[in-house]
Amino acid sequence: MSEKSGLILELKTLQKKAESELKGIQDAVSLQSWRAAYLSRSSDIMAFFKRLSEAPKKERPMIGQFANQVKAALETQFEKKENIIKQVGLEMNLRNKRLDVTLPGRAPAHGRLHIQTLVLRQIYRIFAEMGFQVYRSPEVETDENNFELLNIPAHHPARDLWDTFYTTKPGVIMRTHTSPGQVRAMREFAPEPIRVALPGMCYRYEQIDASHEIQFNQVELLAVGKNITFGDLKGTLEEFAKRMYGEGVRTRMRPSYFPFVEPGAEMDVECFVCGGKGCSVCGEKGWLEILGCGMVHPVVLRNGGYDPEIYSGFAAGLGPERISMLRYHIDDIRNFWGNDVRFLEQF
Ligand code: FA5
Repeated sequence: MSEKSGLILELKTLQKKAESELKGIQDAVSLQSWRAAYLSRSSDIMAFFKRLSEAPKKERPMIGQFANQVKAALETQFEKKENIIKQVGLEMNLRNKRLDVTLPGRAPAHGRLHIQTLVLRQIYRIFAEMGFQVYRSPEVETDENNFELLNIPAHHPARDLWDTFYTTKPGVIMRTHTSPGQVRAMREFAPEPIRVALPGMCYRYEQIDASHEIQFNQVELLAVGKNITFGDLKGTLEEFAKRMYGEGVRTRMRPSYFPFVEPGAEMDVECFVCGGKGCSVCGEKGWLEILGCGMVHPVVLRNGGYDPEIYSGFAAGLGPERISMLRYHIDDIRNFWGNDVRFLEQF
């Protein structure tokens, strides 16, 4: 047998072997192994091209051409098989992972308003019906607005009532209450009469417990005009309590001290947990304090641009978190900013 027919026979045998193996292949992994064996650089077919030198010179082109034909035929068969395997895989996937259109859909979770947004809106609504407009003032305040202009100079012991967060900028603090908004509103509107509700976050360096947070809302109420009396203040706040908690609510006013009012008072609502008997939520008092209030101090009126001989006014600072606690029987203020969805989705 000549070198030519010997090499060609070998090639034919190799082709037959490759084709019969390819027939039996059913999956992509075996197909890749087959390709490595028969079509890669290190495969036997490629080895034939190197062995061409064994054949007589004039037969080499013909043998080389035949080797190329075998290689091309195997490549075509490989592509066909690859397509078949892909198609079969796709069909199996479609059959096994069929979409069940009768399954109930997954409802997307709906967002909702935070309980305090709802309660604040309710407070605005009640006061709006009595003629109070919302007036916004900044959470980062000057020491002057937060204390000095409210009749609390630097040396005044009353500063201890508010544990303050100071910033690195001298004279700039996080407001400890919404009362600095009083002076801002008065300076904007003087000498016109005023009825405003000033809402927003306040910050205090407090020991956190069931009724104290370091960040909490307040709504400040301010009315300035001629002939405004303590009776107006009491009537407004009692009406507010009735609209918020219902006609039967029990409230009380106690004298209290705030340097920016004279006289000053605090208003309590009967404790919802113990019904007035005394418990840990109300500190055994039977009452929960919801606001501080009083008649605007003459010094503050003057600082705001009103002559205290002609004008008078009342102010109050409500705690909306405490108001919600009473309304919805929430026994821990930490729930409000704890971000526990189980709590939040109840409202
Ligand atoms: C004040 O902040 C005065 N500016 C209120 C005021 C305004 C008095 C106008 C007179 C005239 P007080 O510190 O008591 O007062 O706070 C008022 C209300 O804010 C409290 O009744 C309470 O409901 C709420 N509050 C105070 N501290 C906290 C706290 N740490 N966490 C949650 N609520 C608080």
